[in-house]
Amino acid sequence: MPLLFKRIKDIRNHLRDQKCSGNLSVGFVPTMGYLHEGHKALIRESKIQNDITVVSIYVNPTQFGPNEDYERYPRDLNRDMAICEEEGVDIVFAPTDEEMYPHGFTTEVYVKGLSDILEGEFRKGHFKGVATVVLKLFNIIQPDRAYFGEKDYQQLKVIQRMVEDLLLPIEIVPVPIVREPDGLAYSSRNVYLSPEERKSALSIYNSFLLAQEMIEGGEKRAGVIKRAMERFILSHPHVKKIDYIEITDEDLNPKEEVEKGDRILVAVWVGNTRLIDNWKVE
Ligand code: PAJ
Repeated sequence: MPLLFKRIKDIRNHLRDQKCSGNLSVGFVPTMGYLHEGHKALIRESKIQNDITVVSIYVNPTQFGPNEDYERYPRDLNRDMAICEEEGVDIVFAPTDEEMYPHGFTTEVYVKGLSDILEGEFRKGHFKGVATVVLKLFNIIQPDRAYFGEKDYQQLKVIQRMVEDLLLPIEIVPVPIVREPDGLAYSSRNVYLSPEERKSALSIYNSFLLAQEMIEGGEKRAGVIKRAMERFILSHPHVKKIDYIEITDEDLNPKEEVEKGDRILVAVWVGNTRLIDNWKVE
């Protein structure tokens, strides 16, 4: 079993001793738990590149809005520990809210601009919560490398910006999206979907294939591609609404004319479940 720490003081002492005992590199995979194949890909990459791999499991309250799914977000530490053992994780850090947010805290990390577009427009304060908790976790673990999935592409960009701006000596390693065999991106939130909703959720991936086909057929106009995707996704039952479909360059600047390497980013409500996904134009 991996070593499990719930207290900041204990994991700090342990990592200090480990680092002193040799010149060991530390890889860090921050998660909110309910681990799946996407998380496993991050863990495997960390295992390849580092001597020690640390996984954090913490459902961070400050990144959820008041009407979001914080309460019902799936949690199962025993299941996660078993997965971490299978994957050869060395250390699991699963702190309490009291440890992470000391009484009376007022300091936040705000990555301006990048935090306010796309997801930020629909989830006000979300990326402040993410950046703040990730910086805290970085300060606790002090990893050499940290692993982030392209599934949350904007989150990856926000963290990369924060690391550059605050001069953190940490290498951010992006990991490609892992999909189920039919194309649905793995997400802890997929457990919310009924079998019927799950079928409709696949329209997101299929809309990327549609867009890719249009682009390969010579269509370059972002507006035309976005409208075709929208029509396609909305034609499926249980799809309640689309928060956004956007086509950007790799730094999230909106594009009018689509080229290889651009990103198509989508947020869709299927029933009461909000799903995000993205696609790199080939
Ligand atoms: P969580 O949603 O648990 O995701 C943890 C990491 O796994 C993120 O970097 C995410 O991009 C990656 N991930 C999730 N699904 C993936 C998939 N299908 N393929 C590849 N990578 C995937 O993201 C968070 O937690 C939180 O915001 C966190 C960074 C831990 C801060 O609280």
